Amino acid sequence: MRAYTPLTITDAVIEQMSATPDPRMKEVMEAAVRHLHAFAREVNLTPAEWIKGIEFMTKVGQACTPARQEFILLSDTMGLSALVNIMHDKTKVEEATSASLLGPFFRESTPKFESGAQIAKKTDGAEVAMYGRITNAQGAPIPGAQVTVWQTAADGRYDIQNGIEEIDCRGIFNADDKGDYLIRTVRPLGYFIPLDGPVGQMVMSQKRHGMRPAHIHFLISAPGYRELVTALYLAGDAHLDDDVVFGASADLVAHVKEGDPACPIKGLPSIHFDFSLARESEADRRAGRVGADPAAVTAGNGKGTQPYGAPPPEMVAAAAEPKKSGILSGLFRGR
Ligand code: BEZ
Ligand code: FE
Repeated sequence: MRAYTPLTITDAVIEQMSATPDPRMKEVMEAAVRHLHAFAREVNLTPAEWIKGIEFMTKVGQACTPARQEFILLSDTMGLSALVNIMHDKTKVEEATSASLLGPFFRESTPKFESGAQIAKKTDGAEVAMYGRITNAQGAPIPGAQVTVWQTAADGRYDIQNGIEEIDCRGIFNADDKGDYLIRTVRPLGYFIPLDGPVGQMVMSQKRHGMRPAHIHFLISAPGYRELVTALYLAGDAHLDDDVVFGASADLVAHVKEGDPACPIKGLPSIHFDFSLARESEADRRAGRVGADPAAVTAGNGKGTQPYGAPPPEMVAAAAEPKKSGILSGLFRGR
């Protein structure tokens, strides 16, 4: 019978997980256990602190709904989403426009618009035109590329913050046969991330300002190219350098210009930005996005089941085998 110490328990857990069939899952879980244990040892985590952490994570889970993803917000505010995004961006097979956070306000259900249409229901004197070209990494246009865009309304709020049925300031466009896109929108405002939940409590308790600089999100795709999830950040915003979710970067700063003669819509302030897409690799097809529509993440929950279900029959049968030492064997032999 072993006696665990703060140092030997880590290897014991890793040994018990060693039959995990999926090699990548095994690698990720082993590293998670090693780092989690190292963290607990480093800070000398007390039982009261541990339960406080559990209570916090419980509140984060309870705050999630089809319209709100508090776990993604937690990941964002701890810089994990940006880190995963930056690492993923480095795996592109060629240089192209860099990625930025998808954020919690993306939704799959987005209306389609003709080129040059206005996506905001109310323009409130803040109209802006956005135009540019979608090209490959060598600068050749990608005709018909799909450009999905979403942003705050002129009041600094996303539609979804006013209710899950609301659709405003988001749209899907297609580039024309020269790869050019043209969108009418409103000037977005910098905004507070949602601060009314447990993540907001955390951010405020850390004395952070809780703001993102003004930006416009883009998701750009075309067959044979890596999907580009990015955003343009408006020059001059006070929080370009201290974005609470670490998404803003210098190469994605866009200027709103007055009287740009090249803008296809005259008389409006405009943003000109050309995007380039990298060719899609085999790995890209499996990599997925950093982020998701909250409704997609919560799909299938809320089943209203009993708190703890019975173990699967095959586990019970394995535990009853005298020679097998399955993880439940001790339990079922009454030890
Ligand atoms: C956003 O860009 O919409 C966003 C990203 C992360 C957290 C909150 C908002
Ligand atoms: Fe945003």
